[in-house]
Amino acid sequence: MDFQAKVSNLLTQRSGCAIVPVFSKHKMSNAASALNGASDKLIARLIKQGEVKDSLASTLLLPTPTGNADRVLLAHFGDKKGLNARDYIKVISKIVATVKSSAASDVSLYLEEVVVSGHDEAWKAQQVAKAFANSHYRFTQMKSQQAKASPLKKGLYNLVDSKLKKSVHQALQQGCALASGMALARDLGNLPGNVCTPLYLSKEARKLAKSHSKLTAKILGEKQMRELKMGSLLSVGHGSDEESQLITLEYKGGKKTAKPIVLVGKGITFDTGGISLKPGAGMDEMKYDMCGAASVLGTLKSVLELELPINLVVVVAAAENMPSGCATKPGDIVTSMSGKTIEVLNTDAEGRLVLCDALTYVARYKPKAVVDVATLTGACVIALGSHATGLYSNDEDLAAQLLSAGEDSQDRAWRMPLWDEYQSQLDSNFADIGNIGGREAGSVTAACFLSRFVDYPWAHLDIAGTAWLSGSAKGATGRPVGLLLDYLIKQA
Ligand code: BES
Ligand code: MN
Ligand code: ZN
Repeated sequence: MDFQAKVSNLLTQRSGCAIVPVFSKHKMSNAASALNGASDKLIARLIKQGEVKDSLASTLLLPTPTGNADRVLLAHFGDKKGLNARDYIKVISKIVATVKSSAASDVSLYLEEVVVSGHDEAWKAQQVAKAFANSHYRFTQMKSQQAKASPLKKGLYNLVDSKLKKSVHQALQQGCALASGMALARDLGNLPGNVCTPLYLSKEARKLAKSHSKLTAKILGEKQMRELKMGSLLSVGHGSDEESQLITLEYKGGKKTAKPIVLVGKGITFDTGGISLKPGAGMDEMKYDMCGAASVLGTLKSVLELELPINLVVVVAAAENMPSGCATKPGDIVTSMSGKTIEVLNTDAEGRLVLCDALTYVARYKPKAVVDVATLTGACVIALGSHATGLYSNDEDLAAQLLSAGEDSQDRAWRMPLWDEYQSQLDSNFADIGNIGGREAGSVTAACFLSRFVDYPWAHLDIAGTAWLSGSAKGATGRPVGLLLDYLIKQA
């Protein structure tokens, strides 16, 4: 969708649908008053009749009341003094749904008097662009009939102060870029395991690299990984006919000397559990076990669209976890690239086995910070549900930056402990470390396992609960692309 920031007048601006705020206790916005004045007090009458309910996010769609808009949508933004970010997003979602149910092909928003506590005009505009652009998402690739494209093509975000034009314009672009990164992440997540294999992810990476001159792809197959002694990563794909891949994309948008930020994604394209086979019910959802990979590729796509002036390295550790005669067995001991030996006590704890070698590998970039993203543990879903991503970090500044990026993008994370006390749960009688830590604190011990392989500022995002939804709304969410992009924009 194409969004513009412009100083315009509601009564003269041509528009398919104008969004006009009203507030608690029947207070009108300037736009609503102007409309009211030009329409023989229509708005006041509708309010008096009780057509405009005095509650947050209630809306009323009016066909051609007056002026140059085909439709007007009155939308209730709560108290005129201000509302919080979550309530603002709630009203915007309602607006998006209502506009989409009409035949409007463009929309103009007059939100200048809407005050969102802690956020500026640019943030408000970014949320609008993101919500409209995201609403176009449909996963129809695997259906024999393709869905009709939405008629809604253009948006206008009204300004009263032309000085804000530059920052609001940029925010609108960011909102649209975020939506296209999220769409890529969702597409990859939603694709089935027989299509989205490790090799498929490599092809996607090559496609991204072709799209931009500052981006290069380096892809390692199993032979090259053997040369690098990535015995842990390779052990996961042993039982699979699909070749494991280590995908690296280097984006050089920043100064030559600037240290890169590295994003590492877990890319298990299907997780059966291996010989420690998962129960059958709901196993189809393990096609989403590459959502960490999908989210870092999606974030890269957004970064490319915005051409952020940063150096960014994206690494995907891709493998399929299958049982077979060649599969790794419980009790097998593998040697990781770091030299540490690992007793594979449970072949279903495979995410950490691919990530640990990827984390060792990326040390060569002398990174400013490394963030890994993984659908790592069911225990994280039990701890935080689907609302917050689990955040672990060995660096206070990095943790604070990621938490605040989560708040600002409303793609939130919650800090979890990485205390030494948990580390002994990983002790093994036979190898340097076991790959599971017992029943207690499963998400924490998984993060503790990863922490053994890093010697740079690092954070781990456990997205097992946030990357997809189950039930009737089953599908990939595109999280945490919002959090990651917000973090990277602030690093630029
Ligand atoms: N991919 C799963 C984690 C997962 C489970 C994500 C459910 C989303 C929903 C991961 O590879 C896994 O199987 N983890 C095990 C670890 C255990 C064996 C220590 C788990 O969480 O049960
Ligand atoms: Mn598993
Ligand atoms: Zn897994």
